[in-house]
Amino acid sequence: MDNLRFRPRRLRRNPAIRGLVRETRVSKSSLIYPLFVEEGTGIAAPIPSLDGQFRYSPDTLPRALEQVCEAGVPAVMLFGIPAQKDPEGTSAWAENGVVQQALREARARFPELYLITDVCLCEYTSHGHCGLLRGQEVDNDRTLEVLARTALSHVQAGADMVAPSDMMDGRVLAIRETLDRNGFSETPILSYAVKYASAFYGPFRDAAGSAPGFGDRKGYQMDYHNSREAVREALLDVEQGADILMVKPALAYLDVLAEVARATGMPMAAYSVSGEYAMIKAAAKSGLIDEASAVCESAVSIFRAGADILISYYAKELAGWIDEGRIG
Ligand code: PBG
Repeated sequence: MDNLRFRPRRLRRNPAIRGLVRETRVSKSSLIYPLFVEEGTGIAAPIPSLDGQFRYSPDTLPRALEQVCEAGVPAVMLFGIPAQKDPEGTSAWAENGVVQQALREARARFPELYLITDVCLCEYTSHGHCGLLRGQEVDNDRTLEVLARTALSHVQAGADMVAPSDMMDGRVLAIRETLDRNGFSETPILSYAVKYASAFYGPFRDAAGSAPGFGDRKGYQMDYHNSREAVREALLDVEQGADILMVKPALAYLDVLAEVARATGMPMAAYSVSGEYAMIKAAAKSGLIDEASAVCESAVSIFRAGADILISYYAKELAGWIDEGRIG
């Protein structure tokens, strides 16, 4: 084999050379940690479907945020669990709603932490759908106004960025116009631009009590047979003023992530959702896989596919593994 001039193994022989030629670099500055805030006081309740995750009330949330800051994770994404739900989801935009309370608390105590909020109605509606209903159907256009109002109330309470996850058509524009009109033209929108109707949201819906009371979300979330549609959705959101695009879930949609990143040139976020977390947790707990190795490999694969940002329930642990040099 004297003429084997190109030997890929030369670049794998020790950690130093592997480090020099590494194609994907990961950093704690790319991580977002999702957190559930529940209306009430003194709550720090383990979430049965998400082993290791908790629901906090606004007064106990600072404890959780302290851990996030200590881990070096720069940003959180807040989801609200209100005390009262109604068909119109009015607690989503209430001045003293649970997310609004949490934001004021967090803003005052953690000025450096970047606060993002999920903007959707499914946690606030008694029927569990992401929009207002007309009969048994979600009324897209009537929902837009409520979403915009919700986003504005979050920003007024201290959110640095809003992330609409409802999948109504036109919501990025509705939110952008409302924020601009109210003096928040500098506040970015992270759009859940490409969100598939996925079985991997199951543990989240248990955590947030947001499973639809009837039907499913296939009328507004995407069909997983499609990827060209993802590019169309993404481009529409760019036109409407989205600053960052998200693909969700992450692992089963890496092809979509790569394609949307290429087609739009936009900053890309990937959401490694509750079912992805729960699968690794369960397999690790049964001794079937090594948790840290599996999480690190998954996270790097998401960045390799084109994500700039990773939203993960493992964000704090990932930050630690990056510090240890397991990935980086
Ligand atoms: C709200 C929302 C959901 C998730 C994020 N925002 C649930 C859904 O669409 O049913 C899922 C997140 C996860 O599974 O971790 N619409």
